[in-house]
Amino acid sequence: MAEGSRKNDFYKKNYTDWLEETIDSINDGILVIDSQGIVQFVNTEYTNITGVQPEAIVGKPLRDVRKGAILPKALRDGKRRAGIYRREGQIEYVIDTAPVYKHGEIVGAVSVCKSLNEVHFLTKELKRSKERLARLENTVGHMYQTKYTFSDIIGKDSGLKDTVELAKKAAYANLNILIQGESGTGKELFAQAIHSEGPRSKFPFIPVNCAAIPAELLESELFGYEEGSFTSSKKGGKVGLFELSNYGTLFLDEIGDLPFELQAKLLRVLQEGRVRKVGGLNEQEIDVQVITATNKDLGKLVEKKRFREDLYYRLNGVPIKISPLRERKKDILLLINDLIDQAGTTQAIRFTEETRQILSQYDWPGNTRELFNTVHYALSMTETNDIEPQHLPEVICKHGSITNIYSHQSLKEIIKNTEQEVIRQTIKSCGDTLDGKKMAAQQLGISLATLYNKMGK
Ligand SMILES: Nc1ncnc2c1ncn2[C@@H]1O[C@H](COP(=O)(O)OP(=O)(O)OP(=O)(O)O)[C@@H](O)[C@H]1O
Ligand SMILES: [Mg+2]
Repeated sequence: MAEGSRKNDFYKKNYTDWLEETIDSINDGILVIDSQGIVQFVNTEYTNITGVQPEAIVGKPLRDVRKGAILPKALRDGKRRAGIYRREGQIEYVIDTAPVYKHGEIVGAVSVCKSLNEVHFLTKELKRSKERLARLENTVGHMYQTKYTFSDIIGKDSGLKDTVELAKKAAYANLNILIQGESGTGKELFAQAIHSEGPRSKFPFIPVNCAAIPAELLESELFGYEEGSFTSSKKGGKVGLFELSNYGTLFLDEIGDLPFELQAKLLRVLQEGRVRKVGGLNEQEIDVQVITATNKDLGKLVEKKRFREDLYYRLNGVPIKISPLRERKKDILLLINDLIDQAGTTQAIRFTEETRQILSQYDWPGNTRELFNTVHYALSMTETNDIEPQHLPEVICKHGSITNIYSHQSLKEIIKNTEQEVIRQTIKSCGDTLDGKKMAAQQLGISLATLYNKMGK
């Protein structure tokens, strides 16, 4: 044999071995037949999938050893087939078949089979993960649902009504909203109502108190962090509140207390609509409505260079100002009545004229929150159905000095109201009967007719 031909044979043998090994290491089962339908080759994965050993099949007509095999069809019609389902005991697989051509002639056919067990396993795993995700989403959704809607905002004051109308429009405007108002005026109530009203209501409402979280933690709370970004970081990192409120609302309360260095970072996120976790490289797009609130005068903080002007304008897309309770005195009694209704007492609770006077004269520095606390206090202090001045917290009762109470009344009105209150109190202690009234008139040194006369005024 010539040297070249020997080399060629060696090369061919090695090449065939190499090819066989390659086919053997493929993760799909492979079976090859020649033009007569005789099995020439099966790889290890074919045996793994079908359980058929090479010696039981190689060199034999495929039709005889594998009843119903469709590969021989490829020899006859020259067609490729894909995705044919097969089941062998517990094992399910799909087959693709194709004829093998050489110089335009069919010289054999090949089938490639893939086990479906792994696909099933992955499908089950995916289903489980989806269920877990749905449960988590549900929990998160519930955790971050709002409690209040616009129907919970009480008030007939025209200024407050205008504010409510503006807030309702803002709910659909997809602009940042800045709510300003003194402590207890209902800023969070408005923020929640806006979220519940608008298209984001199905998504989370996440409140963050910028004054309550230490400055060094606030950044990672807002933007999240990657695993290992600092020594005490949690495994797997942390999802930031921006990301958590995606498609919903992030309520940044006490925004005036946002540390100066974080103001620039917040501005960047709002301008670009993307967040990057602390220690991270990738940015994530976010779609969040930002509502901020403060009881500080943010404009003044800007003047004093303690709040960035550019951020102020960015946040102030829709400015909402809630007026203090002392500027909408009419609403005080409305709020009180609503609270009494909510308290659900079966008795008819009555605030005496004097108590009402004190409550409407008081300045309410703590606004509606203070009013709510006062009413709850008074309800628990009275033993009858009447709320008298002495049932009010001392600080408020003291405000009810005679000049304060009657500052908007003429002397005639003061005398009339005081007389009526005294008569009412006396009848109460003597009994609301004819005899009781007679006794009351006697105690007060007036006739029964005068008593009736003054009561009816
Ligand atoms: N117009 C209103 N109608 C009914 N309830 C109100 C109204 N305004 C405020 N409240 C109630 O008063 C309480 C205080 O309101 P809220 O917490 O929203 O005030 P705030 O402005 O956020 O106060 P702070 O500045 O102290 O955080 C809550 O119980 C709220 O439901
Ligand atoms: Mg608040």
